[in-house]
Amino acid sequence: MTSAVLLRRLLPHRRARTLPSPAAPGELVAKAVGLRVALGGRAVLDGVGIGVRAGEVLALVGPNGAGKSTLLAALAADLAPSAGEVRIGGRPAGDWSAGELALRRAVLPQAAALTFPFPVAEVVRMGRAPWAGTEREDEDEAAVAAAMAATEVEAFAGRPFSALSGGERARVALARVLAQRTGLLLLDEPTAALDLRHQELVLRVCRERAAAGDAVVVVLHDLGLAAAHADRVAVLHGGRIEAAGPPSEVFDAHVLSRVYRQPVEVFPHPRTGVPLVVPVRPGPHRRPASPPLPERDNSPSLTGP
Ligand SMILES: Nc1ncnc2c1ncn2[C@@H]1O[C@H](COP(=O)(O)OP(=O)(O)OP(=O)(O)O)[C@@H](O)[C@H]1O
Ligand SMILES: [Mg+2]
Repeated sequence: MTSAVLLRRLLPHRRARTLPSPAAPGELVAKAVGLRVALGGRAVLDGVGIGVRAGEVLALVGPNGAGKSTLLAALAADLAPSAGEVRIGGRPAGDWSAGELALRRAVLPQAAALTFPFPVAEVVRMGRAPWAGTEREDEDEAAVAAAMAATEVEAFAGRPFSALSGGERARVALARVLAQRTGLLLLDEPTAALDLRHQELVLRVCRERAAAGDAVVVVLHDLGLAAAHADRVAVLHGGRIEAAGPPSEVFDAHVLSRVYRQPVEVFPHPRTGVPLVVPVRPGPHRRPASPPLPERDNSPSLTGP
């Protein structure tokens, strides 16, 4: 008996999975309608409606506690709403089995409390688990290699995940999600721990995935990254969507200053025209001019030891 047959016998209740077909460009891949989520007896999302289409990068921004992670978890069907509905691939999210969902959406959580004692390459390979036993299992090696190259983690492929730096771990966690090769990517602050180069790299990967036809939802705190790379931005505030649309429309100084409770200025980049959002700051801090230091006396001390 082959191991595949043995596995099938051991897992007789495993539901047959319908493999996803690619979404047409612009097709709604996921949407939330009238979403309300209550946590700890309090509505942390209320009346939220948003859709994400194949081929676009949608950024979710907003202050701490605004509800970005909650919305992402609801769009992932990881969290059941108390009112409203989430649809994924044209069906109510709850209609998909866990296995079918894993073929349709991949989630990078904000606090990836992963302490895998496994080598990096194995951690990335875990992203392929949902495809085991399907015709797309053949893609495993190529998907893992491509995800590791895209996130520049090949250099530490053989090292234990637990022995990596914070930013290195974040890139490996993203590689695992990319290796899953789903049509919907839900990424919660994938750039939070990354250096300048890798922040840009990750947003370029998001753009490439969108160009290849995927729908990408990404939570960002860096409004400059969102402005430069997102097709649309949704600004969350107090569990509601305050504004949504292209960054050039949504990134308004008055709206952002109010939502973040921090005065900001917005002006176009002189070369690209992309909005730059910066906090209003006083001019450069200058030290008061100090009196000249007395000349140092290098003569041997007569009173020393
Ligand atoms: N399990 C929970 N029980 C009670 N309240 C919760 C729970 N999880 C989150 N909240 C609250 O829900 C609100 C939204 O949380 P959420 O994590 O979605 O915010 P966020 O926009 O992702 O913030 P951040 O930028 O800090 O990640 C917050 O006020 C938070 O305190
Ligand atoms: Mg969050």
